[in-house]
Amino acid sequence: MDDSEEQDPRSVEDKKFDQIYPPKVRKLSSLHWTPVRVAAEVAKLLVTAPGARVLDVGCGPGKFCLVAAALTDGRFTGVEQRKDLVLAGQQAATRLRLDTVKILHGNVTDIAFVDYDAFYLYNPFEENMSRGHKIDSAVPLSPVLFKKYNNHVAAQLGSMPFGTRVVTYAGYADEIPACYDCAATLFRDELKLWIKNREYDFAIERLGLASSRSHRGPIGWASPRQRP
Ligand SMILES: C[S@@+](CC[C@H](N)C(=O)[O-])C[C@H]1O[C@@H](n2cnc3c(N)ncnc32)[C@H](O)[C@@H]1O
Repeated sequence: MDDSEEQDPRSVEDKKFDQIYPPKVRKLSSLHWTPVRVAAEVAKLLVTAPGARVLDVGCGPGKFCLVAAALTDGRFTGVEQRKDLVLAGQQAATRLRLDTVKILHGNVTDIAFVDYDAFYLYNPFEENMSRGHKIDSAVPLSPVLFKKYNNHVAAQLGSMPFGTRVVTYAGYADEIPACYDCAATLFRDELKLWIKNREYDFAIERLGLASSRSHRGPIGWASPRQRP
């Protein structure tokens, strides 16, 4: 275990960075926006070639995109369903003069993943299942939507080429289809790198095994198929 895993990933850097946001958005940071140190690791894992196009699914005010764009030569797009967060993200990108960041207002169900090379998900749909994660009442939330969003993301990720990289942070990685394997973990297993290694199989997805990813075995997190 390295030093980065020993410490709480939220740091002084986060307090400084979050000043870019209006108070209401800043207040949500500790639970909802990616810590700077985590964003830096995610960026390294996802930008494997110059200009790699990375999609942040449910980007909030774009904190991951902004930090990652400042540190790498990737291109970062975030999609976010809450208009006030989109505006906060767009204003921050302008203030930081980061022209490799795009923040789109919309629902993930409107997004074609084929336009991107790599993907980041910080537990975006959890607020549909857990009151403690609810941001506000601006958008509809329900277990039915949780399933719908996860199924959409799983099918889109399933259609990507072999070798596609996805990072999840926190949560149970319910969005990741069984054709991806967990290739590495960081920050006490909270951050996971997933790589597509097999064809997407709709019949397997229909079995609904995704929730079994919450299993933590002797070798850390793994796809259900990998277990001994
Ligand atoms: C835990 S926050 C993560 C924010 C950002 N990715 C980060 O790492 O700082 C999840 C965000 O996903 C957004 N979200 C949830 N469901 C969504 C959907 N179906 N389409 C677009 N955005 C969504 C929420 O509004 C929230 O801002």
